[in-house]
Amino acid sequence: MLPRKAVLNVKPYQPGKPIEEVKRELGLQDVIKMASNENPLGPSPKAVEAIRKYAGNINRYPEGGCFYLRQAIAKKLKIKPEQFIFGNGSDEIIGLILRAFVNEGDEVVVASPTFLMYEAASSAHGAKIKVVPMRYFKYDLKAMKDAVTKNTKVVFIANPDNPNGTYVTRYELEDFLKGLPGETIVFLDEAYFDFVEEQDYPNGLDYLGKNNLIVTRTFSKAYGLAGLRVGYGVSSPEIIKYMEAVREPFNVNSLAQIGAIGALKDKDFLVRSKKAVREGKKFLYSEFKAMGIRYVPSVTNFILIEIGSKSGEVTERLLKKGVIVRNMKAWGLENFIRVTVGKESENKRFIKELKKIIL
Ligand SMILES: Cc1ncc(COP(=O)(O)O)c(C=O)c1O
Repeated sequence: MLPRKAVLNVKPYQPGKPIEEVKRELGLQDVIKMASNENPLGPSPKAVEAIRKYAGNINRYPEGGCFYLRQAIAKKLKIKPEQFIFGNGSDEIIGLILRAFVNEGDEVVVASPTFLMYEAASSAHGAKIKVVPMRYFKYDLKAMKDAVTKNTKVVFIANPDNPNGTYVTRYELEDFLKGLPGETIVFLDEAYFDFVEEQDYPNGLDYLGKNNLIVTRTFSKAYGLAGLRVGYGVSSPEIIKYMEAVREPFNVNSLAQIGAIGALKDKDFLVRSKKAVREGKKFLYSEFKAMGIRYVPSVTNFILIEIGSKSGEVTERLLKKGVIVRNMKAWGLENFIRVTVGKESENKRFIKELKKIIL
């Protein structure tokens, strides 16, 4: 029994280990996860409250078009409701753009290392993937533009990027968008948008309409709803129309829709989340400096740190102490680990265990 040819080339995505799995497998009681760039403060309380109130209705199918969530976000972002598509996490939007626009053999351009789903989903769709290396942990947008041909259907850019934690500036993005072929879709993934505080960081929504651009965002990170799976894409009504045609009818479940509406109202939670990340990074940077560990300064909620040739072993030893971080081998960054900023107590515990291992 053989699958489609394209499926044979797919490198399955390896997610960070869940807390329960580590507890079960290693017989540990107290495990912290700093491996999947989630929000350590928990979910937005307003989201939880909204879900509790709604829970008695889950015998019904959800609203397929996310009507109320669509209205709420459209109002907040001052963009027409028909310019949105919602997904089972923003991950699903990656698959939808490929399903709607990429034929087998069409080209897509991705950077390396970046979010692994772009390549995994593109290869599952039989796309021809052009990989452009990052330069000093940043997008080389000039090289990416050079890689674009008239057969390029999609260019993927995460801004800020995962796992690098770096960002593309307003000037760089504008320069990149100028003169791209009309048929090329720019997929601008802003999963970590809410954390960025830099003045020259562009808001992708400002560029809608100028190119074939789709901007994606998620409730998984700053809003603390990773377990619900809800994200969205914003683009031209025409691009959205084709993506809607290939979307599953009930792809975003009703609790996710209700929870996301609750989270949108929770300004206080967003402020607290950003503060925790800002302060957590300050603490971690100073500890890394004191330990002589090099790191890539991050505009988001995780940090790429250089551990050296023993990074795999360090990850394993941290795991045995109940601290889950991400080994970067699957990204080709053999000497690095990526750590998500946790609560104050988690950041301290991570540093304490790391010191025991490497000093
Ligand atoms: C750059 C980037 N895009 C998208 C996602 C997917 O997020 P979601 O939970 O919305 O599917 C992630 C998750 O880690 C990410 O790092």
